[in-house]
Amino acid sequence: MLEIHNLSKIYGEGENKVKALDNVSFSIEHGEFVLIVGSSGSGKSTLLNMIGLLDHPTNGKIFIDGTDTTTLLDDKISSFRNKKLGFIFQFSNLLSDLSVLENVLLPRQIAGTNGSAEKDARDLLRAVGLDDQIDKRANKISGGQAQRVAIARGLINKPSIVLADEPTGNLDSVTSETIVQLMKSMARKLNHTFIIVTHDRQHFSDVDRVITIKDGRAFEGDQPSEMEVLA
Ligand SMILES: Nc1ncnc2c1ncn2[C@@H]1O[C@H](COP(=O)(O)OP(=O)(O)OP(=O)(O)O)[C@@H](O)[C@H]1O
Ligand SMILES: [Mg+2]
Repeated sequence: MLEIHNLSKIYGEGENKVKALDNVSFSIEHGEFVLIVGSSGSGKSTLLNMIGLLDHPTNGKIFIDGTDTTTLLDDKISSFRNKKLGFIFQFSNLLSDLSVLENVLLPRQIAGTNGSAEKDARDLLRAVGLDDQIDKRANKISGGQAQRVAIARGLINKPSIVLADEPTGNLDSVTSETIVQLMKSMARKLNHTFIIVTHDRQHFSDVDRVITIKDGRAFEGDQPSEMEVLA
């Protein structure tokens, strides 16, 4: 469902050239819960941004549900992204003038497929434990609650892949634990594929798979002695 072939990303030119990703290849199966770990500057966000069609690779191919996303024309990219991908970032980026419910509905409205939108949004908000916050304005809730809204918003279009970059990076340890458990239970319940970049390895103790990025290269696992390069 996700296949990455020989992916490289070079930023800048000449003396400022940075090879952020260096010939990375791997596949992720439907329903897998995958962590991407590695030190600061290793290339994790670069990788996630390529998968999320937020930036173009310098070389290589990315297939999502059989579509080569690196050949999509600009006018197709945003609709593909909106239909197939859900995003959860470090800062929940809610629109503060809208209610919790309206924030969750936004990606569905952009996709233009309304149908049972409001029911789906209410179901998701119940699942993330926010039944009683639905009509509050988004700037009147806590950081942990906002991140739960962001999870519901990331799932509203039933994405093939949910991408999260440091989803607990802005939360205290106790709230992080809740958010991690929530993401795991949503992944199991809805059978979504999750790819999560995190510095918070210990909170995610048991996951299907860990990929370590080191100097732009990808390795299977997170035990240095056992790591196998994915190229
Ligand atoms: N837009 C950009 N222009 C130039 N260089 C960039 C750009 N974005 C990232 N880089 C460089 O590419 C490399 C990988 O960056 P990336 O953001 O992917 O790291 P990361 O693993 O996500 O780090 P962190 O854990 O600190 O978020 C770094 O050397 C970074 O300085
Ligand atoms: Mg990053």
